[in-house]
Amino acid sequence: MKGERCPNPIASLMKPMNSHFQFRNLLPYFVFFAFGVAFGVIISVNLQNYSFTLQLNKSSPSTLSLSSSSSSSSSSSSSSSSSSSSLDDLQLANDTAYIDELEKDLTPKSASVMHNMEDEELLWRASMVPKIREFPFRTAPKVAFMFLTKGPVSLAPLWEKFFKGYEGLYSIYVHSNPPYNGSEPEDSVFYGRRIPSKEVKWGDVNMVEAERRLLANALLDHSNQRFVLLSEACIPLFNFNFTYTYLMKSRKTFVEAYDLPGPVGRGRYQSKMGPLIKIDQWRKGSQWFQIDRELALEIISDKLYFSKFQRYCKGQCYADEHYIPTYVSMKFWKRNSNRTLTWVDWSRGGPHPARFMRTDVTPEFLNKLRSESSCEYNGMANTTCFLFARKFLPHSLERLLLFAPKVMRF
Ligand SMILES: *[C@@H]1O[C@H](CO)[C@@H](O)[C@H](O)[C@H]1NC(C)=O
Ligand SMILES: *[C@@H]1O[C@H](CO)[C@@H](O)[C@H](O)[C@H]1NC(C)=O
Ligand SMILES: *[C@@H]1O[C@H](CO)[C@@H](O)[C@H](O)[C@H]1NC(C)=O
Ligand SMILES: *[C@@H]1O[C@H](CO)[C@@H](O)[C@H](O)[C@H]1NC(C)=O
Ligand SMILES: *[C@@H]1O[C@H](CO)[C@@H](O)[C@H](O)[C@H]1NC(C)=O
Ligand SMILES: *[C@@H]1O[C@H](CO)[C@@H](O)[C@H](O)[C@H]1NC(C)=O
Repeated sequence: MKGERCPNPIASLMKPMNSHFQFRNLLPYFVFFAFGVAFGVIISVNLQNYSFTLQLNKSSPSTLSLSSSSSSSSSSSSSSSSSSSSLDDLQLANDTAYIDELEKDLTPKSASVMHNMEDEELLWRASMVPKIREFPFRTAPKVAFMFLTKGPVSLAPLWEKFFKGYEGLYSIYVHSNPPYNGSEPEDSVFYGRRIPSKEVKWGDVNMVEAERRLLANALLDHSNQRFVLLSEACIPLFNFNFTYTYLMKSRKTFVEAYDLPGPVGRGRYQSKMGPLIKIDQWRKGSQWFQIDRELALEIISDKLYFSKFQRYCKGQCYADEHYIPTYVSMKFWKRNSNRTLTWVDWSRGGPHPARFMRTDVTPEFLNKLRSESSCEYNGMANTTCFLFARKFLPHSLERLLLFAPKVMRF
């Protein structure tokens, strides 16, 4: 048997020294040494990608437990060899310094989210999932707020107020069109949160690429458990506490998806996408989603369905309104609510939703958005169906700030 000729390197380390020293006996030591060196190099290269300027707060409110789910993959083979796990044990056992570095790597506290990874490497890195779900350190689950913008986050002062006092429970990512090169003041929650961005055209498939880029950047921080996509025209309708709790406690993801006959629905289906995607599987929905980590991972690691959209969903096809709704409805519909938490007004017709000006913003209007709908939340009928709303023009900011304390309680 070949296996007997090639002893486990760890096991042979434990054996008493043999006087009949042969090269073959030395080989395992070399292999072991090389493993150690390679491991060390990989870890140190990894850690250099982040700067560790901020100290970690050890008294974080709660231990993170990754949401267990029914739909997790069942194909994991238990093929981990005993030699590699003993190697890990030797390297990692009781190595508190290593745990500290790991913690900073997995839940980076640095202010800047800049890196020099190309999309391919970024998506690959973000798609990694630890097999052990419990963290070896304490950290609070966070909500990633991802802003897809043209330029600055125009309603930033409202969001600053929303986030104030909840540091450690959220992370912010901004993807803005590259011609925009402005920077935020250092005391802003948006400071240093712009991810490496590429050009986005309205309705183009590169809009979805930008969404996946935002998701991938946010996934690099393993404490992010919910992912919310927002635009510069979005506002929060509730305070942070309510928003955080609603998102964290939800057993469903919020990706709007519906089947719509006619030219702006099924009419946009491209028959070249078949037979993988059939016309009765084609869905439409708002691009503004609120999803969990598991679905975020599935979206960034999908190549099969997305490549069909990249190839065939161009121009009047509007991939941003169809890719995620269709993909999620085909593969992950069980845990999806088919609705979005972002309110919008399409009642005026046309290709763009209604935009709200200063005079539209009144306490009555805001209250209507907050609680005058009906939907299902965790299996129960509920009247709170929207946590966010669009589209609010920059000059509505003043009145939003005025009514925020009374109506939105922040
Ligand atoms: C750590 O968090 C606790 C409570 O969340 C807070 O009281 C304390 O000031 C924080 N410490 C630092 C160094 O940020
Ligand atoms: C592990 O490290 C801690 C703190 O550095 C130390 O007190 C403890 O004795 C170590 N345990 C072993 C088994 O080495
Ligand atoms: C930003 O871009 C404008 C032109 O697009 C240029 O004039 C300006 O110097 C740039 N500012 C910075 C800080 O790079
Ligand atoms: C958050 O909301 C919960 C229940 O809705 C409440 O018990 C808690 O005191 C609130 N915390 C803060 C900091 O407002
Ligand atoms: C969402 O839509 C799918 C069909 O695409 C359907 O099977 C599922 O039951 C719907 N879920 C809810 C919660 O309505
Ligand atoms: C709707 O759900 C929220 C969040 O769980 C809850 O606070 C509220 O009481 C619910 N409202 C109704 C009418 O059931």
